[in-house]
Amino acid sequence: MKTKVIDITKQYDLALSESARLLRDGELVAIPTETVYGLAANALDEAAVKKIYLAKGRPSDNPLIVHISKMQELPRLVAEVPDKVKIMAEKFWPGPLTMIMKKSDKIPNAVSGGLDTVAVRMPKSRYARAIIENAGVALAAPSANLSGSPSPTSAKYVLSDMNGRIPLIIDAGSCEIGVESTVISFAQEPPVLLRPGAVTLEEITELIGEVEVAHAVLNELEQGEKAASPGMKYKHYAPKADITIIKGSLDDFLRYIEGRDCFVLCFEGEEANFEKCVTYGRENSALSQANRLFEALRELDERGAKKVYARCPEISGMGLAVYNRLIRSAGFNIIEL
Ligand code: TXA
Ligand code: MG
Repeated sequence: MKTKVIDITKQYDLALSESARLLRDGELVAIPTETVYGLAANALDEAAVKKIYLAKGRPSDNPLIVHISKMQELPRLVAEVPDKVKIMAEKFWPGPLTMIMKKSDKIPNAVSGGLDTVAVRMPKSRYARAIIENAGVALAAPSANLSGSPSPTSAKYVLSDMNGRIPLIIDAGSCEIGVESTVISFAQEPPVLLRPGAVTLEEITELIGEVEVAHAVLNELEQGEKAASPGMKYKHYAPKADITIIKGSLDDFLRYIEGRDCFVLCFEGEEANFEKCVTYGRENSALSQANRLFEALRELDERGAKKVYARCPEISGMGLAVYNRLIRSAGFNIIEL
C-alpha cells in the first residue's frame, strides 16, 4: 500500500475530503492532534477498528480512545454521562483529556478491548476536530506509532512507523503538547487517574475533589497485579537504547557518568558538559520537556545510542506526565544518588 501525506496547513480542503472519504470507507488515516498523532478509524465500524490493531501490531485487549468533535456525540457512546464528567468536560474539553465511562451498546468490542467501558476525548486541535466533523463519525484513535515505540509528535515519525501500512497521513506540523492526553476513569468512585497528561492532577482535584492515582502511574506493574488500564501492561515508549534515569543534582550526575561511554538525555543549556547528548526541554519547564521527550527518544535511536543516562524531571504538575513516560522508556531503571 502506498502511503500518501497531505499537509493540511497548505491543502485544507483536500485533506478534509480525502480523510473523510477514507474514514467513511472503513480505512485508516493518521491525524494530527494537540497531544500526539493518532491512527484513526470509524469507531463504530468494527472491521475498520481491527485494522488499527493490525497496522500498529497492538495487542487486541488494549482499548482505544474514541474522539468526538461535539458534546452532543457523547451520550450515544456511553451508558450514562456522570455529573463529574459534565463538570470536567465544561472546563477541559476540547483538550488533552480522556474520560472513561461505562460504554453503550454502540461501541464495538474491538474498541473497548472487551471491557464494559469506553474512553472518550474531544481534542483541541482545530484540524483534528475538522477531520472528525467532516468524516461525520466518531474516530477511534490510539497514538500513530508501532506498538511499543514512542508516540509520534510529527508526521515524519508517523511515516517512519506507518509507511506502507496505511493509505493516508494528514500532516499539521509538530504537536503542541507532545505527550498523550490525561486519562481518568469515571467508571468508579472516586475517579482514578490512569495516565497523567497536560491536564494535571492538581487541576483535576481542584475541580472535582478526590481522585485516586493508579499505582502503575509511578510504579512498575508488580507480578500478578491487575492493570487498571490494559495499556499499563505493555512495554511503552521504548527506544532501542538502554536508558537509566539518574535522580540527583547536575553535579551528582556528572560525577556518576564520569568515564562512562554513553549518551546523555539532558536539559537545554547542559550540553557543554557532555560529549554525546540529546536535550529534552528546559529543566524548569515541564511543558518544554513534554514537547521534546518523544522526539528526543527517537533522536537517540537515530544517532545509534546504546547506553543512555537521563536527567530526571520534576515530578509535579505536568512533570508527572513527563516522568511517567520517561520511567517507561527506561524500563523503570532508576538510580537515586
Ligand atoms: O493523546 C492521546 O490520548 C492520543 C491521541 C491520538 O488522542 N491517543 C492515545 O491513545 O494516546 P493510546 O491508545 O496510545 O493510549 C490510550 C490509553 C491506553 O493506555 C489504553 O490502555 C487506555 O488509554 N484506555 C483506553 N480505553 C480504556 C478503558 N476503557 N479502560 C482503561 N484504559 C483504557
Ligand atoms: Mg500509545
